[in-house]
Amino acid sequence: CGIVGYVGGQSALDVVIAGLKRLEYRGYDSAGVAVLADGGLAAAKKAGKLANLEKELADRPLPSGSTGIGHTRWATHGAPTDANAHPHLDNAGRVSVVHNGIIENFAGLRAELTDRGHELLSETDTEVVSHLLAEEFSSCGDLAESMRHVCRRLEGAFTLVAVHADEPDVVVGARRNSPLVVGVGDGESFLASDVAAFIAHTREAVELGQDQVVELRREGVTVTDFDGRPADVREYHVDWDASAAEKDGYDYFMLKEIAEQPKAVADTLLGRIDASGTLSLDEVRIPASVLREVNKIVIVACGTAFHAGMIAKYAIEHWTRIPCETELASEFRYRDPILDERTLVVAISQSGETMDTLMALRHAREQGARVLAICNTNGSTIPRESDAVLYTHAGPEVAVASTKAFLTQLVACYLVALYLGQVRGTKWGDEIGSVVRELSEIAVQVEQVLGTMEPVRELARSLADKNTVLFLGRHVGYPVAMEGALKLKELAYMHAEGFAAGELKHGPIALIEQDLPVVVVVPSPRGRSVLHDKIVSNIQEIRARGARTIVIAEEGDETVVPYADHLVRIPATPTLLQPLVATVPLQVFACELATARGNEVDQPRNLAKSVTVE
Ligand code: G6P
Repeated sequence: CGIVGYVGGQSALDVVIAGLKRLEYRGYDSAGVAVLADGGLAAAKKAGKLANLEKELADRPLPSGSTGIGHTRWATHGAPTDANAHPHLDNAGRVSVVHNGIIENFAGLRAELTDRGHELLSETDTEVVSHLLAEEFSSCGDLAESMRHVCRRLEGAFTLVAVHADEPDVVVGARRNSPLVVGVGDGESFLASDVAAFIAHTREAVELGQDQVVELRREGVTVTDFDGRPADVREYHVDWDASAAEKDGYDYFMLKEIAEQPKAVADTLLGRIDASGTLSLDEVRIPASVLREVNKIVIVACGTAFHAGMIAKYAIEHWTRIPCETELASEFRYRDPILDERTLVVAISQSGETMDTLMALRHAREQGARVLAICNTNGSTIPRESDAVLYTHAGPEVAVASTKAFLTQLVACYLVALYLGQVRGTKWGDEIGSVVRELSEIAVQVEQVLGTMEPVRELARSLADKNTVLFLGRHVGYPVAMEGALKLKELAYMHAEGFAAGELKHGPIALIEQDLPVVVVVPSPRGRSVLHDKIVSNIQEIRARGARTIVIAEEGDETVVPYADHLVRIPATPTLLQPLVATVPLQVFACELATARGNEVDQPRNLAKSVTVE
């Protein structure tokens, strides 16, 4: 799942291991490295965390060299064992390859290689590549050329990085659909799944396009397409530094990222709304004439980003009156959705690399729809393949469980909704002016919530031995409930479900038993008081059946007091914006509960930060 490559004047092993550590957040279950030294190639790999690999390297040190590659693997083909860990070598031990993604035609290639006398040692699709590269290299003597040749034969999505003992100062990378970035230093070059791996060494990066091969040498990099034609590449300067990817004194990245949310949401708004309340979203390069013709919006996303999309639907339909549906990206294209030039597809993704979301957006564009990406990662694949992008500017999110990315995705969705209304001349009356004002207050309100979380942490610790927690909400509180449940599943490994409170009586109420913790997100009593009153009734229904009620309600809402075993106060906001403040206690709750249960907060088991396979 994480790849690092290095050639330069430093110890390649040190650079590669440090880089892999910075990519740990992506989630992995084995790790390995290879270095070129003394005319040969030496490799080590271990199942489990990087610490296992480091122990192996301490027990059996590799010779020191200045060209190397490394990998953290999240198992797809074959279990997370030492043998299946990357790198994979050819039989002569001259070529070493690391790989992300899936090579779909590997079974055929493997059979072909076995027929030609190759002996394959692992169950992985990757190993076929090292054997194919070794064959090609023996006829052309050039690793980049061999890589191009092999890539033309591969089907599927992949990032490949390889070294060959006969070209000791070269690292070659290739990418199709999977992320890979190049770092250009002074007398040294880097390759990695993302810039975090080399940001401590250089902030000058080169973005690789689809179907490109890069050859790294100390003096610079050469990029071609798979046929060897020189490729256009985009160079860019990374505008955040190594400290942004550090923990800053927090025990976990997740805690740091939760605390960064006020700044993150302010950064998402920065420069996008002027004093008169007019929005300027220059990056949304879809002509106003096209936006005026949009007659349907479809939001596609996965995981936490999907929950942001569910909330966006309420705001978009209410403010623009354009029909909007939100769909799991992984389901979208398989149901043959109805799309045309008048459909606007909004793809939400923190990483910009989630394969399910990427495939959904490609399908949408093939049908003629316009795609607007909401993304946190500059230059990643999803924004590159979209018609326009609105960046969330949350800064790097390292913890696997998404927090500040979620809040900023919400802000970006509100901006898109308001912008569509503005472009289309929607008649709004007073509501929009006050929404814009409230949005500009939101960072302060998130800060307020963060300042009052100690009772929530205490409550979380007291529930550490529970098996189940349920979450209820109505309207935008429903996706918030789902997000609260997802956080708890991801981090605390507990059974957690988010329900629409109105559905309770149609089934889930059967789950309620004595002392079962149920978190209820209560909308503002102002304005839509019917909604509020309905949920207050739901709280009474579950409490009557023994539930231990944990109520998240606006300051000053006294109606809930008699029915709340635990009351968490949040600042008053309009209902549509409430998720920005109501989600925060749920993040804190899940994080603390996970810690109390002794779980690894930043890297929950089995999860990956960006899932680049379908
Ligand atoms: C993975 C992560 C989730 C994330 C989802 C979508 O499943 O574990 O935290 O919400 O991917 O990621 P994206 O980068 O597309 O927002």
